[in-house]
Amino acid sequence: MTKQVNIAILGFGTVGSGVYQVLTEGKESIKHRELVNIDVRRILVRDLVTERNIGLAPIETFATDFADIINDPEISIVVECMGGTVPAKDYILGALAAGKTVVTSNKEVLAKHWPEFERQAKATGAGLYFEATAGGGVPIIRTLLDSMQGNNITHLMGIVNGTTNYILTKMADEGRPYAEVLAEAQKLGYAEANPSADVDGWDSVYKLSILASIAFHARVNIDDIYREGISLVSAEDIAVAKKLGYTIKLLAIGKKMNNNLEVRVHPTMLHNSHPLANVSGVFNGIFLTGDAVDDIMLYGRGAGKLPTASAIVSDIIYASNVAEHRYMTFVNEFDAPQWLVHQKDWLSGYFIRLTASDELGSLSKIAGVLGDSGVSVHSVMQFNENAHKNTAELVFITDTARELSVQSALARLRALSCVISVDSVMRVEE
Ligand code: NAP
Ligand code: HSE
Repeated sequence: MTKQVNIAILGFGTVGSGVYQVLTEGKESIKHRELVNIDVRRILVRDLVTERNIGLAPIETFATDFADIINDPEISIVVECMGGTVPAKDYILGALAAGKTVVTSNKEVLAKHWPEFERQAKATGAGLYFEATAGGGVPIIRTLLDSMQGNNITHLMGIVNGTTNYILTKMADEGRPYAEVLAEAQKLGYAEANPSADVDGWDSVYKLSILASIAFHARVNIDDIYREGISLVSAEDIAVAKKLGYTIKLLAIGKKMNNNLEVRVHPTMLHNSHPLANVSGVFNGIFLTGDAVDDIMLYGRGAGKLPTASAIVSDIIYASNVAEHRYMTFVNEFDAPQWLVHQKDWLSGYFIRLTASDELGSLSKIAGVLGDSGVSVHSVMQFNENAHKNTAELVFITDTARELSVQSALARLRALSCVISVDSVMRVEE
């Protein structure tokens, strides 16, 4: 028998209007395949004058007061696509308290307030679904929850932000300037309302917090995650990486070793042979290692109207048909800081680009400092085309080294008279 489900959508921008489009265009086939008839009963907008997508749905569907939604007993699912934490947090808590299932694409509010939402959902038996919070259209959350249960996951490494991947790809492939490509990503509906969330790495931090919490069964707080954005990645770094056979990606990395966790977001040099190096443009890729399955990789559009709507509509259908909602069981309910590997103990290869005096002995002094600090050099190259007279651009790729050793080597390199500047330092993943 077909089940009738009435939903409300909060926010009618890129994602909200995409959900409406997919549900409207796919209504009959969803009803036929999934035995659920989904009606969009209400759409919450700020106002009916300036709201840009108003013409897409019948005018009587729109509401400007959340009370019209929360007090409607026929609405069983609230789909939050507003973004931000205010008023999204209160609306989500209000909907859950009223026993309504929440589907959200808002990684910021989930990463910051997940325990409160989870508690409230459990209290009323409502569902909480968030496939679209990480990976856009890539079904990473359900893969972790429903397809990897037999594994102890040890590694999670992903390109989880479409905007920055789009920017880095266009800069590398087309030599286009950062600001121009960012504006294009905004126009295409990929970027956050404040694109600093993308380029400064916050969006990836929120997503890593969600993914690592599920993958490692421990609540990983956003404050536990190291963060660097892409604003310091220069056209020079991209050009040198290309010459060396590497690609620069903003990676979200989670590693579990001996029950300790390492969680970080930063630009990373990836050898072109790595599958993630070929994830370009708005696409996301998430590479997982489980002790039973070994390596798997998920790939697809990480942002945009319809890919994101695909994930949300899947959550709506799943929530409509599930007999009983399930809740997260983290090893420790609320956070995992006691298990974090301190930054000084991280192990990684490093790319170090510096400008040195082009004089006899410079290279051996620099290599000597690296060696004395316990940092072994994997390869070294000298480029002279960008360097001024009597200077040389040197690029070192190190073997895997301890972060503390690299930081101490960098401090000593900066003090060498033959080192004019350390221009760039980036972690390398093979
Ligand atoms: P968007 O285009 O800016 O849409 C958000 C909409 O919500 C806007 O129309 C906004 O209205 C409305 N809104 C905000 N506060 C509201 C309030 N209090 N009452 C009623 N309406 C309100 O953003 P989006 O790209 O759709 O993103 C929405 C959420 O999905 C964010 O959490 C984002 O991180 C997430 N997400 C986005 C994508 C993507 O590709 N875009 C992918 C995955 C997840 P105003 O225009 O008047 O502010
Ligand atoms: N701004 C986000 C991105 C949207 O570019 O990945 C998808 O979460």
